[in-house]
Amino acid sequence: LSPRLTSFIGSQSHQPAESTWFVTKMTTICGEDLPGVSVVQITPKAIPVLPAEAVWRLHGVSSNLRYTTRGEKQELTQRQVALGRPEATRGVLIPIRKNSAWWDLTQEERREIFEEQSRHTTIGLKYLPAIARKLHHCRDLGSAEPFDFVTQFDFAPADEGAFDDLLEALRGTLEWTYIDREVEIRLTQP
Ligand code: HEM
Repeated sequence: LSPRLTSFIGSQSHQPAESTWFVTKMTTICGEDLPGVSVVQITPKAIPVLPAEAVWRLHGVSSNLRYTTRGEKQELTQRQVALGRPEATRGVLIPIRKNSAWWDLTQEERREIFEEQSRHTTIGLKYLPAIARKLHHCRDLGSAEPFDFVTQFDFAPADEGAFDDLLEALRGTLEWTYIDREVEIRLTQP
């Protein structure tokens, strides 16, 4: 089992643990809903047997970069921080699926849309280091997955407004027209 795998288990009952996040809001941005849950357990390993109270399980692996130039990578490395700062008590999970038109493009065409036209990295860099992020890939797991990615973020409560601005900017881009399923799950830790 891959050490890069993270599992996200959504359920209704509270079994308090360090890895438990409480759901404050779930919003379907496009495509099919994900059933409502009140807690999400985020665990850096496979969960082969789901607990009885689980409503859904998402999982993904961290992977190599696909659309990032050397210069962008340097800027990201200088500015980004890892998930899990003690003050980062607000979390967001956004599972995303892209449509077949996106996956039919070539690597160069996707990069052109992602950065030259949509400025995904340029926009995102403005929000570092306040927002910490991690991209989990589901598409290459080999199983039928409901999403291509699970994106994970955390930040301090005071930075929630900045995160909202970031979402608004990204959702107005050409890249986002290729997204056919997106669910936003807002989380909090006491
Ligand atoms: C916090 C600021 C952000 C930064 C600095 C950032 C940066 C990046 C970078 C550099 C990549 C490309 C990775 C690669 O080369 O493969 C990427 C991919 C991605 N990001 Fe962001 N991002 C940010 C926020 C977001 C947000 C808020 C969302 C979701 C609402 C998001 C969704 C994605 C997705 C789905 C991908 C994968 C795209 C694909 O492979 O087709 N990002 N991001």
